[in-house]
Amino acid sequence: VPDQLVDRFGRTVRDLRLSVTDRCNLRCTYCMPEQGLEWLPGPQLLTVDELARLARLAVERLGVERIRLTGGEPLLRRDLEEIVAAMAGLRTRGGFKPDIGLTTNALGLERRAAGLRAAGLDRVNVSIDALDPGEYARLTRRDRLGDVLRGVAGAQDAGLSPIKVNAVAVPGGLDERAPRLLAECLRRGWQLRFIEHMPLGPRGSWRAGDVVGAQQVLAVLRRAGFTLAPAGRPDRRPAALWDVAAGTGPDGLDYPAGRVGVIASVTTPFCADCDRTRITANGRLLTCLFSTTDTDLRGPLRAGADDEELLRLWTTATWGKPRAHGTDDPQAAPDGFTTPTRTMSAIGG
Ligand code: GTP
Ligand code: 5AD
Ligand code: SF4
Repeated sequence: VPDQLVDRFGRTVRDLRLSVTDRCNLRCTYCMPEQGLEWLPGPQLLTVDELARLARLAVERLGVERIRLTGGEPLLRRDLEEIVAAMAGLRTRGGFKPDIGLTTNALGLERRAAGLRAAGLDRVNVSIDALDPGEYARLTRRDRLGDVLRGVAGAQDAGLSPIKVNAVAVPGGLDERAPRLLAECLRRGWQLRFIEHMPLGPRGSWRAGDVVGAQQVLAVLRRAGFTLAPAGRPDRRPAALWDVAAGTGPDGLDYPAGRVGVIASVTTPFCADCDRTRITANGRLLTCLFSTTDTDLRGPLRAGADDEELLRLWTTATWGKPRAHGTDDPQAAPDGFTTPTRTMSAIGG
């Protein structure tokens, strides 16, 4: 069995994204329908031991160096601290603890940040689409901005840093929302990243023509007075970064210099240097966020598969990873890109 996850196009996996639940306590319009989705029954979710076993194989046998826990909303797992502790006990080939990140909406984080930090969590990426309570409630269909901000404060107090903020660039008020969000994140020392809307929300809710591209986001920010200079896309991460000069925000208050990121998955996909592998909450291996096929790992896990068999499934699936997802490529998707049936909350983002 190969000792790393490589594909036909020469890419090597270093980053594991583990979804720990498909459930969520928000209903972001770009992600879920108002009534929510049909959640996986509890027994279908990977247990702490199952997650720990897969993570151990990835880190100790396949060369993975970073683990990101995602959802749905991962804080809805009461045993998240145990999951983090299990990951933190692993050692990479270089002998280091893997870098452990959490992508969360921060609801309930205030109470749990210190415990998660103690368990070995390194950092959090928090989804905050607006810093105006009404706008936040409109976009997430829940009036919870206060809880979110207390959650982020808790994370900062616990020493989780840097704080990265994710905001999906959906149209409708973006010209006001984006500049206010950036000015405020710069003041608070949070690294804001705007994300292009990907076709992974409720069926029929995405239209290629409605996508606000990275260039449009940057134009909105420049029109609002921000001075931006490209700072590259470091470390094969999804976000292209821009240096922002200090200035005065739309609210008349100053902001310090800093950075802003744009995750241009739709207009400028970064598939060519993708270094990720993903596992859904019910134990399906996906080689790509947009995969339409998957590999069941939970079945073999529960049937008593040995390490070699699991490693073989993982390396074989990775070898077949598609070259690109084609959201930007009419040639690859002549009838328009079809929304995969699994939504973002079931994949883990
Ligand atoms: P770090 O850079 O490690 O801090 O994390 P991240 O930005 O990769 O993770 P996060 O969970 O915060 O994801 C931010 C956005 O990037 C989400 O919308 C993800 O769906 C998207 N994203 C993450 N990985 C990939 C990927 O491999 N492909 C695509 N197209 N989008 C991705
Ligand atoms: N397109 C882009 N980003 C999305 N997210 C959720 N759904 C979508 C989508 N359809 C974002 C969330 C979260 C991150 C993991 O993915 O806002 O920050
Ligand atoms: Fe929940 Fe994240 Fe989806 Fe919003 S984007 S509904 S916070 S899973």
